[in-house]
Amino acid sequence: MGRGVAIWFGLVVAAATAGGVGCTTGDDPGPAMPVEPAVIYAQMCARCHGADGRGDPEIRKTLPAVRDFHDPAFQARASNDEIARVIMAGKGQMPAFGAGLSVPKIQALSGYVRRLGLRGAP
Ligand code: HEC
Repeated sequence: MGRGVAIWFGLVVAAATAGGVGCTTGDDPGPAMPVEPAVIYAQMCARCHGADGRGDPEIRKTLPAVRDFHDPAFQARASNDEIARVIMAGKGQMPAFGAGLSVPKIQALSGYVRRLGLRGAP
């Protein structure tokens, strides 16, 4: 357990605290969740594709096909529609998410994946 873990934990706590301001507690279901692709990505995709979209290094050992979204060949080949189709139906070892995500969420995710790949992360 290194210092990085402690800092990361601190960030999570800070984010949770900041996010809680103004929120109700208890059984109130609250307002409908807005489509927030970054949140969905972090929850459902980052464990394989990595937070930066390069593919989680551990996952790559077992699933070498995991795409690096920064790969220019991927960016050139994959249209938003094509990406949405893969998210919906799956491909090879990529699981299908069509049953768990609405179409607007899948479309938002496909745009997010493209932006993630174009951003030139570290
Ligand atoms: C269990 C690990 C895993 C998870 C979770 C996962 N993927 Fe994938 N993903 C893969 C693998 C493996 C591939 C490569 C598939 C292939 O081409 O064989 C892939 C490929 C892709 C591709 C590229 C498709 C192409 O045409 O090249 C996109 C886009 C993608 N995933 C998006 C997502 C999104 C968005 C999520 C979250 C909703 C997600 N993935 C969750 C493993 C995963």
